[in-house]
Amino acid sequence: MVSRGRLIDVTELGGFFAVSDGEIVGILTYDIQEGACEVVTIDAVKPRLGVGRLLLEHMAALATSKGWSRLWLITTNDNVPAQNFYKECGWTLVAVHEDALKESRRLKPEIPLTGIDNVPIKDEWEYEWQL
Ligand SMILES: CC(C)(COP(=O)(O)OP(=O)(O)OC[C@H]1O[C@@H](n2cnc3c(N)ncnc32)[C@H](O)[C@@H]1OP(=O)(O)O)[C@@H](O)C(=O)NCCC(=O)NCCS
Repeated sequence: MVSRGRLIDVTELGGFFAVSDGEIVGILTYDIQEGACEVVTIDAVKPRLGVGRLLLEHMAALATSKGWSRLWLITTNDNVPAQNFYKECGWTLVAVHEDALKESRRLKPEIPLTGIDNVPIKDEWEYEWQL
């Protein structure tokens, strides 16, 4: 992944997963830098069953218990479903980093030019959870 101009190897990150009936139904990875926690990936196997919300709630509880200074994440401008999800889960949009994907593609050229609904992927949207 690339986030805020930093290449991140997600296989080296901490994380946790949600299980239902013995099957993994969702997974979240996070990264700690200088005491702040970034949610790097969040995926639900089947959408709209409440798994994503549970993962974020667990993340917030973990961040509180660890005393991390900040909990934040990045999504891209095309990912309107994720933006709606973060808003619905009570996260706050704190910054829009215009044209951030230029730098991301320098680090990871295979990032596609367009994303969801064929929208050009251009900006990073930064969300934060109030700890
Ligand atoms: C984004 C994602 C993790 C959300 O997980 P989820 O389990 O589907 O979300 P939840 O069921 O917990 O949704 C909680 C609430 O968020 C809102 N929401 C979730 N997905 C939404 C969507 N696609 N459109 C609009 N609102 C949405 C709804 O209000 C929902 O509550 P409701 O279903 O009772 O109306 C999941 O859709 C996913 O894996 N997407 C693909 C990967 C991805 O884009 N990850 C984020 C990268 S930044």
